[in-house]
Amino acid sequence: MIQEKYQKAMKFAGVKHCSQPMPDKDANYLLHISNVAMEVLVAHHELEDFDLEYAIQLAILHDTLEDTNTTFEELEENFGIEVAEGVKALTKDESLPDKSSMMLDSLARIQALDKEVAIVKLADRITNLQEPPMHWVNEKKLAYRKEAQLILETLNGKNDYLSIRLQHKIDEYRSYCFEQ
Ligand code: NI
Repeated sequence: MIQEKYQKAMKFAGVKHCSQPMPDKDANYLLHISNVAMEVLVAHHELEDFDLEYAIQLAILHDTLEDTNTTFEELEENFGIEVAEGVKALTKDESLPDKSSMMLDSLARIQALDKEVAIVKLADRITNLQEPPMHWVNEKKLAYRKEAQLILETLNGKNDYLSIRLQHKIDEYRSYCFEQ
């Protein structure tokens, strides 16, 4: 049952994220992941052409490898290899030299897996394109918007509903930036 999978993933993510607040991030993780899960649910309600059970677990767990002490093995043990592989693709490889190569590398790994992984990436960026924090300088906001455009273009065709929604969010985000 999807409800049980949702609850199990949420409990796991809740424990992991809440016990390890990242010092450089003021984000409320549970708010973030429940928003990503909500985007996935609405997209599936719009068109039932992907595996919701898989996508919802990925949505809830997508930041666990990147932002907590969760290991790949732990994800595999609790949620299966597919979920573990999907979360891994959604995780930056911090050994790469810069943010742009990390994003390109992650997008390539996302592309190689099922569309549910791409769907979560789209949902994640839609969720993150809200009003940026006050301390973000214009350059950072422009770069974030440009990166969102790259995500949209790379994952084109994976889910039309979320693609259109992301395009709207990118357009809206323009109001927070000064074009140079
Ligand atoms: Ni995220």
